[in-house]
Amino acid sequence: MQTVEPLLQEAEFDQKILDEQKIEPRDWMPEAYRKNLIRQMSQHAHSEVIGMQPEGNWITRAPTLRRKAVLLAKIQDEAGHGLYLYSATETLGCTRSELIEALQTGKAKYASIFNYPALTWADVGATGWLVDGAAIVNQIALQRTSYGPYARAMVRICKEESFHQRQGYEIMFALAKGSPQQKQMAQDAMNRIWWPSLMMFGPHDADSAHSSQSMKWKIKRQSNDFLRQKFIDQTIPQIKVLGLDMPDPEIRWNKKRGHYDHGEINWDEFYQVINGQGPCNHQRIKHHKRAHDEGEWVREAVRNYREKQNRRENSTMKK
Ligand code: 3HC
Repeated sequence: MQTVEPLLQEAEFDQKILDEQKIEPRDWMPEAYRKNLIRQMSQHAHSEVIGMQPEGNWITRAPTLRRKAVLLAKIQDEAGHGLYLYSATETLGCTRSELIEALQTGKAKYASIFNYPALTWADVGATGWLVDGAAIVNQIALQRTSYGPYARAMVRICKEESFHQRQGYEIMFALAKGSPQQKQMAQDAMNRIWWPSLMMFGPHDADSAHSSQSMKWKIKRQSNDFLRQKFIDQTIPQIKVLGLDMPDPEIRWNKKRGHYDHGEINWDEFYQVINGQGPCNHQRIKHHKRAHDEGEWVREAVRNYREKQNRRENSTMKK
């Protein structure tokens, strides 16, 4: 016989979403909500961690000690973001090793942008400025996401990302106002990273598989296209201050819309990259596996320590 309890639970959940209350780990939630969150949050965590690779390549080649120290701090922040997000995802009932396995076997995605190489020092500047800049636009909206642990992780992450965006812009500013060769390097990095940054917001709303349900559940608060346009509108004036040429010849102010018009993204390239065929996909996962395997002794030490602690606690309780 069917009981009314599941219906009541669902009604209570719907009401909480309607009232802008946060859903917490011990609250009842629909299975599809839980799965969708695990998908998005783990993809987000993987992005933070894989994102350390292109910038990490430049630690030993940073042009000054100050730049090296700042870059190191930034990359450590990204590792921290990955950890907050993995911990938040684990509150949904999955383990860290399941999440890592999904990444390494290609079941879980990570942000497409990190499958492009960082070719010059200017790429470090353009990445901080554009990639972290795009990430913040998306993540500010996520501070109001309906799942409590995700929303709270986002508050801290956004604060750190805005420092990252500024350090990137500062590098770009120094290069753009430097020698003609430095300015050219900044221009070239921006031209290459511009389009993949726009792709970070995902497919057009009409082609976005998850948006409609995620918006109903208030996991996503603003749509892919809305956020992309917001990023474009706030970034064009920054390009002007740098004195660089626009990365897209179709960029122009549309007075009627009150937004910048722009050219179309190469969606074939986007789908190739997210389906594993980008310039660095294989390299990124191979490196992740190697680093993960090399860290096995740390996990083993933690497991042994925990077991020892548990044994000690059990024997104290028996006494
Ligand atoms: N890169 C890789 N995959 C992407 C993508 C991108 N830029 N954009 C979309 N996709 C994938 C989706 O994951 C989904 O695949 P799946 O069904 O296998 O999971 C598919 O394309 C369809 O896209 P949807 O629009 O339907 O997917 P979402 O509703 O999840 O929207 C999103 C995509 C806007 C990226 C959303 O997931 C999101 O807001 N995620 C949280 C933010 C995030 O992950 N940011 C990573 C940025 S990098 C970062 O923060 C590191 C920092 O150092 C800069």
